[in-house]
Amino acid sequence: MRPLIAGNWKMHGTSAALGQIAAIARSVAEEAPACDVLVCPPFTLIARAAAVAGAGVAVGAQDCHREPEGAFTGDISAEMLRDAGATTVIVGHSERRRYHGETEIDVAMKTSAAWRAGLSAILCIGETEAERDAGQAAEVVARQLDGSLPLGANPATTAIAYEPVWAIGTGRTPGDADVAEMHALIRKRLTDRLGEDAAGLRILYGGSVKPANAASILRLPNVNGALVGGASLEAEEFLSIIRAIPQGA
Ligand code: PGA
Repeated sequence: MRPLIAGNWKMHGTSAALGQIAAIARSVAEEAPACDVLVCPPFTLIARAAAVAGAGVAVGAQDCHREPEGAFTGDISAEMLRDAGATTVIVGHSERRRYHGETEIDVAMKTSAAWRAGLSAILCIGETEAERDAGQAAEVVARQLDGSLPLGANPATTAIAYEPVWAIGTGRTPGDADVAEMHALIRKRLTDRLGEDAAGLRILYGGSVKPANAASILRLPNVNGALVGGASLEAEEFLSIIRAIPQGA
């Protein structure tokens, strides 16, 4: 399956950062990497990012509201994102769960909202360090997947991102065996729910993916791409991660 390398800019970037997207788009057009490429800037840059990204780079958002419109001051709907040029939206990122109190139900509703608007969803799940230390990582990830993935997922509309919370922005990553084990567990759980469709659904790894570790993470079984935070902010660093996908993968 064609991998996906997605950049999550979080709350970084003003107009000046559009040059990074243009640079990524230029290299992707020239090098035709063997993966799909997505950049998720802040809301304020989506429309302009879509205008400079060209055909080879998709633009996504980092969150959406569950409703299509209404009296929700400050919120942005999936339909609005689509209208602005986004193709995808990240839902359930641990920073949304933590700082905005998003529950499994909230995330499931946001995922449904993305589908309703014709966007694909990247649904994030992952355990905290305390949960891993307590031996509960698998249980937590399974519970999040069951609780936040609505019925009706398919490979065209959904990717799962396994992001251990303790690996996000810390420079620490789980061992290869731990990543492979968790991705296998997610695949198995998806297969139980979706049957054959589960085989084509991308499972991304996220959490301190850098040019130096990308190749080893991306070749693990059931790792079908990466969700990259800090290392996606600078075009050359992000491109190095894209180049870690072997041609013909
Ligand atoms: P990081 O963030 O690559 O900076 O660890 C990943 C993420 O939060 O999606």
